[in-house]
Amino acid sequence: MAIGFINGEWIPVDQTVLPIDERGHNFGDGVYEVIRVYQGVPFKMREHLVRLEQSAEAILLTMNYSIPELEALIAEGLEKTGLQEAAVYLQVTRGIAKRVHLFPDVPASTTMTIRPAADISDKIREQGVHVTLVDDERWKNCFIKSLNLLPNVIAKQKATDAGFYEAVFVRDGVVLEGSSCNLFLVKDGVLITPPANRFILHGITRATLLDIAKELGVPVEEKEFGPDLLLAADEAFLTSTSMEVMPVVKIDGRQIGSGQPGEIARKLHRNYRAKYQQIGV
Ligand code: PDD
Repeated sequence: MAIGFINGEWIPVDQTVLPIDERGHNFGDGVYEVIRVYQGVPFKMREHLVRLEQSAEAILLTMNYSIPELEALIAEGLEKTGLQEAAVYLQVTRGIAKRVHLFPDVPASTTMTIRPAADISDKIREQGVHVTLVDDERWKNCFIKSLNLLPNVIAKQKATDAGFYEAVFVRDGVVLEGSSCNLFLVKDGVLITPPANRFILHGITRATLLDIAKELGVPVEEKEFGPDLLLAADEAFLTSTSMEVMPVVKIDGRQIGSGQPGEIARKLHRNYRAKYQQIGV
């Protein structure tokens, strides 16, 4: 079963509720988070909610629920659905007010859905995916998890139409991240990922994998690189809450490494899974 939430009320997910003057709808004026629930436990929930609060702060928005309140709501929603494997989407917008650009003097608006997790098939992960490099047309505040996802959805659609799994943004010759994921490469045994600056989302999965790499003694560098290093990589992979670790085997038709998912990606993913399954590797 799935469930929706809007400003204090639990509702069926297919119920029509969007207020006509909702600023999330009129301006994309809000922020969001996605949290994966494994075995009934929201993974890295606190980290996601802290990032939500930071995104809200960065757009000068005061949330209408505190982090502990949101944690309690997520627990309540999960109990109502009975779901063990779920995806929680949370959106906080600048509220419901007559359509003018200036900030309204109204409380923020919080909506949430809890649905069964849509897992990616193991077959895709075992084969690895093909991606394409595209020009980054987004704004310069990509560390904010904003509801404004137009360049992301267009890039994803164009990439999919052209037969690719994901689009990877490149800005001024610098490789950044996918339309809804971060990117890593492995070169000569070193794990390399773009630095957590304003041009990428500071992924929770990215941070978790950097921690895992350090625990495993895999050398890590957070540094800028261009398409040349990416194409010369021994391995490349994408990371996100929903993808976890997704090996990339071709970029714009050019094979990466052996053309098979890499060993380091596999090892990191095994350890990532162990973290949410709370078991040994
Ligand atoms: N996307 N970069 C972008 C642009 C993203 O939208 C996401 C997440 C990430 C990875 O962040 P995290 O590891 O915290 O999920 C990186 C989510 C999954 C989404 O929009 O569905």
